[in-house]
Parts: sequence; structure tokens; C-alpha cells
Amino acid sequence: MRITFIGGGTMGEAMIKCLLAKKVVSPQDIVVSDVNELRRELLAREYKVKTSADSSRAVENADVVVLAIKPRDLAEVMEVIRGSLRQQAILSIVAGASLSTLSDGLTYPYIIRAMPNMPAQIGEGMTVWTTMSEATQEHKKMARSILSAFGKELYFPDEKYIDMATALSGSGPAYVFLFIEVLTDAGVRIGLPYKAAKELTLQTILGSAYMVEKTGKHPAELRNMVTSPGGTTAEALAQFERGGFRSSILEAVIAAYEKAKRL
Ligand SMILES: NC(=O)c1ccc[n+]([C@@H]2O[C@H](COP(=O)([O-])OP(=O)(O)OC[C@H]3O[C@@H](n4cnc5c(N)ncnc54)[C@H](OP(=O)(O)O)[C@@H]3O)[C@@H](O)[C@H]2O)c1
Repeated sequence: MRITFIGGGTMGEAMIKCLLAKKVVSPQDIVVSDVNELRRELLAREYKVKTSADSSRAVENADVVVLAIKPRDLAEVMEVIRGSLRQQAILSIVAGASLSTLSDGLTYPYIIRAMPNMPAQIGEGMTVWTTMSEATQEHKKMARSILSAFGKELYFPDEKYIDMATALSGSGPAYVFLFIEVLTDAGVRIGLPYKAAKELTLQTILGSAYMVEKTGKHPAELRNMVTSPGGTTAEALAQFERGGFRSSILEAVIAAYEKAKRL
């Protein structure tokens, strides 16, 4: 599979790194087209991939063209590559760019829209994706093998779920970072050294997430298992309820979803 990246910035580089580490493709199968000469030099040196400053030629022999540019640069890129598309799958990770924006801009039907999240940068991402109905099984197979290289992937046949996922897994890392920050601060507030508070926080979050995943139990059941009657956890949970913790998270995700739909 020959992959051309348009944009070799943060996400482009992260994807290349994961694809090579997991041996999905070899360096000679990857071409990166980026306007930034320094980025081209860095990627060629670091990953031994081919680079180009000419996107229209770079996409010609590709099986998959990954659009990894900022939304503001999308219109220009579509204009440049439009005339060079034949059978390639277009795999866009451009936030907010809908299937219709992409297919209209490219006047081309084989479009895949993916929404990775930030931990994809370290191979621990959650990516949701969808396709135009014209995309073939082969296009989907290639997309899945690329997307699964940097974490988990979930296909939705209906694009409407991408806005919902944007509010959950897309923005989600920020919610979790905030929780990590506050929990660590709380540990410091009651007297723990910062380093210890951070380590306790991180392992508690990782361990609890694995616990939900490995046991398959409902989180409420697991929560009840750590809540002894009249104990410390019950005291903390009662305070969470008084502070509107649950409704605050619900309303925040709904607000993010409403915003995603407006963009
Ligand atoms: N970062 C994340 O965690 C994340 C998560 C989910 C989705 N995304 C999406 O992924 C996309 C890429 O994000 P990023 O953080 O990787 O952006 P980035 O670091 O800015 O990388 C984009 C690269 O494309 C280059 N470029 C700009 N215009 C170009 C053109 N016309 N032709 C070829 N290359 C061009 C940029 O060069 P210059 O710097 O010189 O402009 C830059 O090197 C965005 O649409 C974003 O919404 C990112």
C-alpha cells in the first residue's frame, strides 16, 4: 500500500511513526508532501520517507492520500490535488471537514473522514471514521489498517455520529487532563508531595479504566464495590453529587456536541 501524506506536521508525523513501528508499510511506501521545507527535511532524515513540495504529483501513484493539514489550508490543498485523483482513497483527518465538503471540493467520491484524538500522537488514540457510500471495500480495508496503527478505531456507517464522537473522544482528552490536574491538586492540598500526588492520580485513572475494560462490569457496579457504608468514598461521592459533578459532565458533553454541529 502506497500512502501519500499531505501535511507532515504533528499528526502526519505521529501517523508515519506508528505505521512504520507497526510495520504496516515501509518507508519507501510513504511520500510526504508538505509546504514546510524544514518538516520535509526532518521527516526524510528521521523516517527515511520520500518527500515532495508538489502535492499534485505526490498523490498520483498513491493508493491512499491522507489529508493531515489544518482546516484553513484544506480548500487550497483540494484545489491543487483535484486533477490528479483516479482511484485513490482520500483519508481526511481534518477536524470538522464533512464528507460533502471534501467530495464537493475534490469533485471525487472515494472519501473517508476520520476523527482521531490527541493520544493518537503516542499510538493510543481513539479514531472514529465514516465513508462516502461510493468508497469500496478495498478503500475501507486500507483505511482501517492505517487508522488501527495509532490506537483503536471505530467505523460508523452514518456521518452524524462523528459530531457526537467529537464531543466525547475528540474533546475527551481535555476533560481527562482536567480531572488529572484537579485530582493531583487536591492531593497536594491535603498534604501529599506533588510527584506522589501525580503518580497516585495517574495509576488510579489507568487502573480504573483497565478495571472497567477487563471486568466488563458496569462502572456503577465497580463504584459500589469501593464504597463501604459510612466510609471515606461515600463521603467524597456525596460531595460530588452536591457539587453537580454528574450533571456538569453531561452538560459539558452536550455543549461540545452542539458546538460541533454548528461548525
Ligand atoms: N493534533 C491533534 O491531536 C489532532 C487530533 C485530531 C485531528 N487533528 C487534525 O489533524 C489535522 C492536522 O493537524 P496537525 O496538528 O498535524 O497540524 P500541523 O502540525 O499544523 O501540520 C500540518 C502541516 O501541513 C503543512 N501544510 C500547510 N499547508 C499545506 C499545503 N497547502 N500543502 C502541504 N502541506 C501544507 C503545514 O506547514 P506549515 O506549518 O508551514 O503551515 C504543517 O507542516 C488538523 O486538521 C487537525 O484538525 C489533529
